[in-house]
Amino acid sequence: MCGIFGIVGKKHRLGELIDGLKKLEYRGYDSAGIAYVANGRVDVAKQSGRVAVLEKMYEDRTSTFINVGIAHTRWATHGNPNDINAHPHTDCTGRIAVVHNGIIENFNELKQQLIDSGHFFKSDTDTEIIAHLIEEYYGGDIFDAVKKAIKRLRGAFAIGVVSADEPDKLVAAREGSPLIVGKTEGGGIIASDITPILKYTKEMYFVDDGDIIEINLNEVRFEDYYGKRRQKEPQRIDWEETAAEKSGYKFFMEKEITEEPDVIKKALTGRISEGKIRLDEISEWQELLKKIKTIKVIAAGTSYHSGMVFKYFLNELLPISVEVEISSEFRYMRQWEYDDETLFVFISQSGETLDTLESLRLVKRLGGKTLAISNVVGSTITREAEKTIFINAGPEIGVASTKAYVGQLIVLYLLGATICQAKNCSLETTFFQDLQRMPQLYENALKQSDEIREIAKKYAHFLHFMYIGRKGNYPTAMEGALKLKEISYINATCYAGGELKHGPIALLDSEFPVFVIIPKDDLYQKMKSNVIETRARNARCISLTTNDNHEAKTFSDDVIYIPHCSDHLLPLLCAPYIQLFAYHIADIRGLDVDKPRNLAKSVTVE
Ligand code: M6R
Repeated sequence: MCGIFGIVGKKHRLGELIDGLKKLEYRGYDSAGIAYVANGRVDVAKQSGRVAVLEKMYEDRTSTFINVGIAHTRWATHGNPNDINAHPHTDCTGRIAVVHNGIIENFNELKQQLIDSGHFFKSDTDTEIIAHLIEEYYGGDIFDAVKKAIKRLRGAFAIGVVSADEPDKLVAAREGSPLIVGKTEGGGIIASDITPILKYTKEMYFVDDGDIIEINLNEVRFEDYYGKRRQKEPQRIDWEETAAEKSGYKFFMEKEITEEPDVIKKALTGRISEGKIRLDEISEWQELLKKIKTIKVIAAGTSYHSGMVFKYFLNELLPISVEVEISSEFRYMRQWEYDDETLFVFISQSGETLDTLESLRLVKRLGGKTLAISNVVGSTITREAEKTIFINAGPEIGVASTKAYVGQLIVLYLLGATICQAKNCSLETTFFQDLQRMPQLYENALKQSDEIREIAKKYAHFLHFMYIGRKGNYPTAMEGALKLKEISYINATCYAGGELKHGPIALLDSEFPVFVIIPKDDLYQKMKSNVIETRARNARCISLTTNDNHEAKTFSDDVIYIPHCSDHLLPLLCAPYIQLFAYHIADIRGLDVDKPRNLAKSVTVE
């Protein structure tokens, strides 16, 4: 959940370390630090707080030339987020510095052994033991020392290491945490994700578990822990560098919501023609899709919600069982049934969520068929799943997932429709027509942003919120509540409309507003009764409803209208509205929308 970055080469400047960190800050923002080799020593600067604090410290030195440097932005696991626990960490001599993303599980045991043999520790982190272990093995070759040290580690890591004694060299290694390498002329770059590398090269190496890498001024070399050379082919990443910049928007979240019409267009391009879906990625699975009886979807957070929408969608169409599991639960389930008519679908924007990855590994060990749906090319989940469908949404930087959710929904609708096709079940023409006009409907939704902001102003001071919905819009309500709580810190809870009377309605009063997803679909009357019940408890009510609902104003305090579309697609069409509502509330409350407290974008620890 941290970001690591490193550079090697003749023409680099110190400010590049800070620029690299800024692109990774979404991964954690408790503290930031850099280390670089200069004048025969390793200089380290680290500070609790955002990268901006570090930037300020270094504002007069950003153009200093450096050959080798490493950098880190932290989401604290071991030890408080203070200056001392910030990375990089050094050994006793201060001549070896390490940045690390991951968790070392056997750190207590190793720390004690190192203390017993005379090492002196400064921080409470698990990472510091790596620096001391390397020191223990160092005999003039940092690559060799890192190789020996990492064999002693248990847990997950991606590390970058520099040594004052080898000033033109950076050593990196990976076991369980993401790491990408870019080769540049006369050097190379390491980073926890693609975005900071784009500025240097689009040809990237995706590091595998068990790789140890040396980058020097002449080469980038991959070996395994036992000294065997590993041959790697770089992959070309066609993301634009500007895609990871705010481009004038106040927050990435706002920018990413406005990109949604394009995300939909891209996800649909080449995949629908004359009412037929083409998903080339799984074209070899025609026979499997024909006979499929069970689909298990495994995901976390927002990705779990898109999986839930998929479940409701398919349940309307086919008599197959779709079970959606939270990955952190699924990976510890002792018993579950599957056979060769079962497909396992792993949804992950980042492709790195540890619980989802471990669930995938579990299923693979047992021989299940695995399909990943992800946004990040080269991410671990996509490399380990049997097949992957990419959503191609471009980099998502805001911690709150928005455009990736929309991209996931599109791909999941296409997957569902492909399964229908394979089983000779037909979807109505309006479904395809509405799917194709979705970019336009989203453009219209974006035009309602100011109107949604006006409504948000009336509710931004509340401490609690309840979201309710039914069927495919129950997950919409779940996603609305998650968006609101994660960026505005309002206690937003969510229930299926029918559950209200079974307990949650006891919470409601004039201080507990309700956001209702109430399109004019087959359960409209049921939802309307729910709204009337909430109003009878004096709760204020915002209705998100279709524009053919002429009575909504009679039972709601505020109404947000959406156009009508195929009922199947209503959860997709509702997405920008719930996202914009949460965005405006958080912005009105004056919060850092892109970097909510206690969170990180990519959850690569348990
Ligand atoms: O990268 P993933 O899709 O696997 O991430 C899963 C969740 O961590 C993520 O969706 C999280 O819930 C977001 N903060 C939601 O906005």
